Amino acid sequence: MKTILVTGGSGYIGSHTVLQLLENDYKVVVLDNLSNSSPESLKRVEEITGKQATFIKGDILDDACLNSLFSDYTIDSVIHFAGLKAVGESVVKPMHYYENNVYGTLNLCKAMKAHGCKNIVFSSSATVYGDPIELPLHENLPTGKPTNPYGQSKLMVELILSDIYKSDKEWNIVLLRYFNPAGAHASGRIGEDPNGIPNNLMPFITQVATGKREYLSVFGNDYDTPDGTGVRDYIHVEDLANGHLKALAKIDDNAGLFTCNLGTGQGYSVLEMVKAFEQASGKPLPYKIAPRREGDVASCYADPKLATAELNWKAEKGLKEMCEDSWRWQSNNPDGYPK
Ligand code: NAD
Ligand code: WQD
Repeated sequence: MKTILVTGGSGYIGSHTVLQLLENDYKVVVLDNLSNSSPESLKRVEEITGKQATFIKGDILDDACLNSLFSDYTIDSVIHFAGLKAVGESVVKPMHYYENNVYGTLNLCKAMKAHGCKNIVFSSSATVYGDPIELPLHENLPTGKPTNPYGQSKLMVELILSDIYKSDKEWNIVLLRYFNPAGAHASGRIGEDPNGIPNNLMPFITQVATGKREYLSVFGNDYDTPDGTGVRDYIHVEDLANGHLKALAKIDDNAGLFTCNLGTGQGYSVLEMVKAFEQASGKPLPYKIAPRREGDVASCYADPKLATAELNWKAEKGLKEMCEDSWRWQSNNPDGYPK
């Protein structure tokens, strides 16, 4: 039975991944400082699976904590979700973002190396492509220039991990470039629980639907897209989580340094999302057209072929399930996890 360290494992994507790891008989150790999550998520994962992950409240910036963790547990591979992800906040607090995301990852890699664990799956993002020079985005395209410190931090970590691999070919490093995660576990017991005003489209929509927010501001309807609103590749969080189990299998197969998109290949506009959500929830969703949001691109969607060929992975769930599952989570938990 393999033991996986999941950093950031009580967060949105992390909790869905821990759930699937437990269902697939991995032993799981979660390290999370709970800066953007609740311990309740893993309690519910335990309730769903009947299995328990070991939880350690700690920070990837804390060397002593990392060293004692790697001394106490023999970790086969690390899935590294821990990091800060609010794009707007990263512009205001760049040092905080670079420290957590870049320095934190370096710390983690140093502890891994010191304890002989050289297998890591990293949460990267489609943001590393910058403003797309062609669509769909495939992995051989050059990385672009992310427009904010959050995106830059993801690109920096990709470069650091690539250099680590070049220096020591015993590492197996899988860089997963996520497109736009949405949805929740089908049980409606775990899901996305953002602090404050959501930055991302789907959690904002669900909060409008529960009446917590009055209306959705649609950021721009004059883009060069079929209906003028921004187009993105939304991917169900359960499909995304499954991609990490496939990445672990790739590591078992000597991945080396492997970079891969996780997306569906299908783009939807903001207005298409609104319509799909109205159908799933059975109620109208008030929205107003607002100015464009700085730093947004018109369209962004994946070429998912490499993931199918090399990871044997394909997104199974479509927009309908993403909307239905997000709605089930939000309507059952209008205030997120109990605070
Ligand atoms: P999340 O905020 O729900 O989860 C991140 C977790 O990391 C949280 O539980 C937080 O408490 C923890 N954390 C943050 N800093 C830490 C630190 N220094 N030490 C220990 N724990 C720490 O976010 P998520 O949506 O689940 O994203 C997971 C990863 O995927 C992040 O690295 C994010 O940048 C990346 N990603 C997310 C998206 C998205 O849209 N959600 C898209 C692309 C990439
Ligand atoms: C999607 C579409 C908006 C909110 C961001 C990060 C990226 C990755 C995922 C993660 C866009 C529109 C949104 C709203 C709207 N990060 N929108 N009204 O911008 O594609 O990607 O999250 O860690 O790095 O940049 O996702 O969900 O914010 O926006 O009209 O209130 O919805 O303009 O077209 P984005 P998003």
